[in-house]
Amino acid sequence: MKSRTHRCGELNRSQVGQTVVLNGWVQRRRDHGMVLFIDLRDRSGITQVVFNAERNAAVHKAAHTLRSECVVSVTGTVAARPDESRNPNLSTGEIEVFADAVEILNEAKTPPFVIEDDAEVTEAIRLKYRYLDLRRPRMQRLLSLRHAIMQGTRGFLNAEGFLEVETPILTKSTPEGARDYLVPSRVNPGQFFALPQSPQLFKQVLMVSGVDRYYQIARCFRDEDLRNDRQPEFTQIDLELSFVDRGDVMSLTERMIATIFREAGGVQLPTPFPRMSYAEAMGKYGTDKPDLRFDMPLYDVTAFAGTSEFKVFREAAGKGKLVKALIVKGGSSIARSRIDALGETARSFGAKGLAWLKVASDGQLDSVIAKFLDAKAFAAALPEAKPGDLVLFGADTPAIVHDVLGRIRLLLGEELGVIDKTAWKPLWVTEFPLLDYSQEEKRYVFMHNPFAAPLDEDLALLDSEPLKVRAKAYDMVLNGNEIGGGSIRNHRSDVQLRILDLLGIGKEQAQAKFGFLLDALDYGAPPHGGIAFGLDRLIMLLGGAESIRDVIAFPKTQRAQCPLTDAPSPVGADQLKELRIKLDLLE
Ligand code: AMO
Ligand code: AMP
Repeated sequence: MKSRTHRCGELNRSQVGQTVVLNGWVQRRRDHGMVLFIDLRDRSGITQVVFNAERNAAVHKAAHTLRSECVVSVTGTVAARPDESRNPNLSTGEIEVFADAVEILNEAKTPPFVIEDDAEVTEAIRLKYRYLDLRRPRMQRLLSLRHAIMQGTRGFLNAEGFLEVETPILTKSTPEGARDYLVPSRVNPGQFFALPQSPQLFKQVLMVSGVDRYYQIARCFRDEDLRNDRQPEFTQIDLELSFVDRGDVMSLTERMIATIFREAGGVQLPTPFPRMSYAEAMGKYGTDKPDLRFDMPLYDVTAFAGTSEFKVFREAAGKGKLVKALIVKGGSSIARSRIDALGETARSFGAKGLAWLKVASDGQLDSVIAKFLDAKAFAAALPEAKPGDLVLFGADTPAIVHDVLGRIRLLLGEELGVIDKTAWKPLWVTEFPLLDYSQEEKRYVFMHNPFAAPLDEDLALLDSEPLKVRAKAYDMVLNGNEIGGGSIRNHRSDVQLRILDLLGIGKEQAQAKFGFLLDALDYGAPPHGGIAFGLDRLIMLLGGAESIRDVIAFPKTQRAQCPLTDAPSPVGADQLKELRIKLDLLE
């Protein structure tokens, strides 16, 4: 094989007249009789190669055997294309290469789909033939973007004095709240490693070790229900710092994200990022990851609802529930059938209904519930609702009202085209509650992770009103996506034990689960805190990918399978015997 002199996307007019060698794949062949063209592709792009019978009859003949995706080495001469056949869409569109020799390095079967960005192909086939899927320019671009983001992250953090430290993959269960992947230990029969849901415990231990500033581009494993932005195996940009408070972590990491976005994606994020408390985010947008690319806030109309004649409203307001309104500007033109369908959607989200009204040009209310409402009182309660607007209502517990209206807001934002798709709207959400109360389990559960420290001013509430305690936790949100989250930790074991106790994790259980961390805290743990970013989600956003599977070279399906390798798969009796495991699958 002749070594290449150039990549397929590199040639331009400056090489005209030169003899070059290109190696690559045949993208396409076009036979025009005496002249035959192939597009030759590698990662960098495509060059048009011309086989001219008059110039070289033997090579022209040989070119007839070239099939799509076979691998070739072409030697030829660079020529400027005639004006009329220039291709401005191609980096090499000003030139073509006249072939003098061609060597087939390998044949290729006909691929199950054409190697082009807009090929029509199901995801199942793409994942089975991932090596072909990854040959497509868009996938190559996403792989390059991933690389650029990873290198940019390392460059930034190295310059800030961080040490990259690896932590174990075979380890003990970490408490991020998902199910663990387990690995049986052959040498310790009946015992299991857990794959880490994050490096959380180890990075805290590293702070006790005096590492001071740690980072890792870390693989995490969570056996949870999968969605378009979730994989069972994903990657975090994981950091931990000693002697810092919330502001230090937030200002450093927003500089990091802004730098990565600028350098890897050419995107200018406005710094400093705005900060919003959890309470404000939930109240205004119904979610702790608000999409600020459009406004459409929720309004609290509980007081008005309490004075109305509409039973649903009055009862909700009376029972200490919440009534909130969403204003759809100019929405009075939305058809009744569409509004009813939105009501069905709201029900599917868990609401009991979605009351609505339209404000007529004279300020009168147009709605099936209009007879129960006082137009003047409504106008006073919600002056933002103007003639021509549609107003949607949710009446229920705060959790349901916020969740449902928050989701309806997003849905309408998309549907009405009011989301500015060119905008980048990062923000910090802060002051999360430390705890939540699980109605199902009838106990407190943690909101972020069990190691987040309470706000100093809320410490006293730990005993009296634990649900009112806010944590020193922060999430970075971008365009409605949670891209990172972290906290300042409990560096004193007494506070940590108190919180674990509230979570129903007694001393003994705590010792068994993460005794090593609790012990370490007692040997001079510095105040510390950190954060982890979802690397895959960052790439999705910056690369405009709809699915997290597009930014991971070898992802799992929604059913947590790998169609390329057929993992997971049964194992042989020998292997099980070695592990001293006997399968007895329960129904
Ligand atoms: P957390 O669980 O919030 O925090 O995870 C941090 C970030 O990781 C991303 N992420 C995921 N991405 C893809 N697939 C998943 N299944 C998935 N789960 C989470 C999200 C999220 O913001 N140890 C703490 C961090 C800390 O406190 O320092 C942790 O893991 O973008
Ligand atoms: P009903 O009195 O059940 O016929 O409902 C009248 C209107 O109120 C319908 O548009 C319902 O969708 C709406 N509705 C009923 N319950 C609720 C609720 N909890 N929150 C918001 N709207 C509701």
